[in-house]
Amino acid sequence: MARILAIESSCDETSVAITDSGKLLANVVSSQIATHAKYGGVMPEIASRLHCENIGFVIQEALETADVAFDDIDAFAITRGPGLIGALHIGMQAAKTLAMVYNKPLIPVHHLAGHINANEYVDKFIYPLLAVVVSGGNTELVYMKGDLDFEVISSTRDDAVGESFDKVARCLGLSYPGGVIIDKLSKQGKHTYDLPIPLKGEDTLEFSYSGLKTSVINLVHKYEQKGEQIRVNDMCKSFQDVAIGQILDRVKKTCQRYEVKQVLLAGGVSANSYLREQMQILMEQMQIKLVIPPLWCTTDNAAMIAKVGEKLYERKVFAPLDISVDPNWEIQDYLIF
Ligand code: KG4
Repeated sequence: MARILAIESSCDETSVAITDSGKLLANVVSSQIATHAKYGGVMPEIASRLHCENIGFVIQEALETADVAFDDIDAFAITRGPGLIGALHIGMQAAKTLAMVYNKPLIPVHHLAGHINANEYVDKFIYPLLAVVVSGGNTELVYMKGDLDFEVISSTRDDAVGESFDKVARCLGLSYPGGVIIDKLSKQGKHTYDLPIPLKGEDTLEFSYSGLKTSVINLVHKYEQKGEQIRVNDMCKSFQDVAIGQILDRVKKTCQRYEVKQVLLAGGVSANSYLREQMQILMEQMQIKLVIPPLWCTTDNAAMIAKVGEKLYERKVFAPLDISVDPNWEIQDYLIF
């Protein structure tokens, strides 16, 4: 067991966590959402600059919160990918510098492995399990027969689910990130718009969100051309039902085809209240144990990177200091860097 300092900077959160033998001592998150909201989405160049400005302060605050010094740290864990290349580089340079100066191992961590294993802060994993990874950049079903044993059995053919929430929100004139707002407005809306079910009739575990997003955009334009107002709350509810319905359908089919003892949610979209509620109902019906992460685990944070970092420390998975980031790193390749 060891004391790990982990850094996460793959998108628009600069985060540093410190763990000591599995215990979370600090998890400082500096979010850039307010800045990116002005542009309706994450601006990669601005994200990199803000990571540069913030990383020193966030590291300092994590050390103070955990009441430890750099000399007390046994290894530095870092998100190597996937994510925005510039943003990833800032965290990687900081982690490399610390590893070099303090002569401690550098541990490269896969961002989605972090999202999945964040659930270990709340529950024990029972294998084989199905991790439902739903975020702004990913929509994947990951099958795990054991610890850090990842098999991607399904992913999206086009857009990620979170990306479709954000784009639909933008077209409805709602602010960024759209997922939270659509979730909120859906509670006051009714499913009155008839939107197409993606990949309907196909016997597939894959996802698709681009057609659904386009039909919302086309419908909104059609209403605009007629000089009519779209009922925003109803559109949010109609879209959310279809978008989340697709996840529920794929999870159900996967649990019927594979041996699954536990299902866990991971990633930003796992904060969605309708997904959480419906997944609970589905898992009760299928009598499969469900792990739902607390909201702080659903957004990007370094505690999840530290969790995987600890496991890799035990296995002595250390990187050379000339390692680089990989914005498209596949989860099953997490040991290849
Ligand atoms: O995991 P995350 O923080 O970033 C990525 O690594 O992609 O996920 C962010 C995504 C955004 O697309 C955001 O709109 C979505 O998660 N999201 C939600 C909710 N909260 C965040 N989507 C639906 N319902 C929510 N409550």
